[in-house]
Amino acid sequence: ASSPSQAATQDWQKVGTVTELNKTGQLLVQDSPVGAVLVVGTSKTAKNLIAVNPTCTHKGCTVAWKTDKNQFVCPCHDAEFSGDGKVQEGPAEKPLKTYIAKIESGAVFVKP
Ligand code: FES
Repeated sequence: ASSPSQAATQDWQKVGTVTELNKTGQLLVQDSPVGAVLVVGTSKTAKNLIAVNPTCTHKGCTVAWKTDKNQFVCPCHDAEFSGDGKVQEGPAEKPLKTYIAKIESGAVFVKP
């Protein structure tokens, strides 16, 4: 299989390790190279990793991933977002910023 080109890999930013991600299936990093990022998944579901900026677009609280609902939920005013960042329930009106995520060599990477 052909791997992504070297040029493309330069855009990937390492945000943590697979060990950290696999502990809870979530990796929250407030000060990654791309800013706050929340990655959801494990190495077992590496093909379906979800990554967003978890800063709520309403007033800036940090949303949490709810596995049972398959949604991000904001603790402040209960806004809900789908895995692709889209608003499902207000008061937020704008989607969460999303990233592509991948696992490579034991590390978790995201890219805008
Ligand atoms: Fe998230 Fe208000 S800050 S719903």
